[in-house]
Amino acid sequence: MSCPADSRTCSGPPTLPLHRLAFDPPGPPRPVELPDGGSAWLVSRYADVRKVLTDSRFGRAALHSPDAPSLSGETGLVGSLDLMFNQDGEDHLRLRRTLRRAFTPRAVARWRPWIAEIVEKCLDELTDRARPVDLVDGFTLPLPVAVISRLMGLDDGARDRLRHWTLYAFSDGSHPEEEMREALADFAAFGVALLAERRKEPGDDLTSVLVLAADEEGGIPEGQLVDLVCGLVVGGHDSTMTMLGNSLLYLLGERPETWSRLGADERAAEALADRLLHLVPLGDDRGTARYAAVDTRVGGVTIPAGSVVLADCGMANRDPAVFPPRPFDDLFAPLAAPTLSFGAGAHYCLGAWLARMELQLALHRLAARFPRLSLAGSVDAVEWNRGTTSRSPRRIEVTW
Ligand code: HEM
Repeated sequence: MSCPADSRTCSGPPTLPLHRLAFDPPGPPRPVELPDGGSAWLVSRYADVRKVLTDSRFGRAALHSPDAPSLSGETGLVGSLDLMFNQDGEDHLRLRRTLRRAFTPRAVARWRPWIAEIVEKCLDELTDRARPVDLVDGFTLPLPVAVISRLMGLDDGARDRLRHWTLYAFSDGSHPEEEMREALADFAAFGVALLAERRKEPGDDLTSVLVLAADEEGGIPEGQLVDLVCGLVVGGHDSTMTMLGNSLLYLLGERPETWSRLGADERAAEALADRLLHLVPLGDDRGTARYAAVDTRVGGVTIPAGSVVLADCGMANRDPAVFPPRPFDDLFAPLAAPTLSFGAGAHYCLGAWLARMELQLALHRLAARFPRLSLAGSVDAVEWNRGTTSRSPRRIEVTW
């Protein structure tokens, strides 16, 4: 692993909380150097990022061809050719169709009552704990894990291994190769077994929806279904956990004045959750990668065929041509344009509505139940979970 868990023991500048990361102003597409010395094009303006993410001439599959440059964050499950995220065109659509209906806003709204129940249960258990309480252990981790476990139909054994698998699925490349291979093979074996169980005995979970839809669709390779299940299991909780932890660190540490309105007003909580999703990145990596199949004009510049393109959603989300300056000033103000934090185009986050709902409910109910919640330590002393492309606090000690 590149850095021990405690950022203060690393050489170099201290690790900034994610809400404090600085973003350069966006500009026209420009060539940049990749960490391994290869080259790429950085795209950073709102309109240009949308263009790259919605134009089918920019694909994902070719990024994983044998002669493609190595990209940070494209290892582990994210580097698998079978992953839906790494499919283009019809191959991608065929997979995406299997679950598309399950994640529409209307379908997700029907999950709200049982998700709210899980939130309340976590909060009930928090009240019984001795203070200071660790919100990661008691809230930001168990909530998304319980939600994805129920959705995918996971048993307790699988639930206990989720964090282990996530470490390798979203590895930042710092894990030894052999260890990676073993962990990913173990994770894939879990996916194979889960699919087989649901084929034999379908339930009311999304894995069952997936096997039935895949049968109807026909011709989907089993490896792609396995990676889809595994991708949902880890992607469906890690990003929500990360977002929730980093948001709480910011709100409790630096914006305590927002807490009472957040707890009192559900509508305000929705706007605040949307703004946090828009402004607080999931990790330190910049830019989601695409491959230019042909010469393509973007923002007045020709990006040559064969280029790797990094679309920087964080910079685009701060583009002054679209968003007013000082975006952190009023956290309850609605966004001036749709956020790019869930991407755009064919690979737009499948779980965006679910993630939004979990974040809104979690923040609103936590603030309502614990109006006097405060950090027990300082934001600057936080220790970080390391080794994956996402970065979240290891502990958030609070009291009330
Ligand atoms: C705060 C929470 C989340 C954030 C910020 C987030 C962000 C994203 C982004 C930016 C992408 C597109 C990447 C790109 O085009 O380069 C994406 C894709 C995806 N997300 Fe999420 N996500 C979140 C939660 C979830 C959840 C809860 C699920 C599932 C239950 C999920 C499932 C997926 C899947 C399956 C894809 C790939 C879609 C495809 O290739 O068609 N995400 N997510």
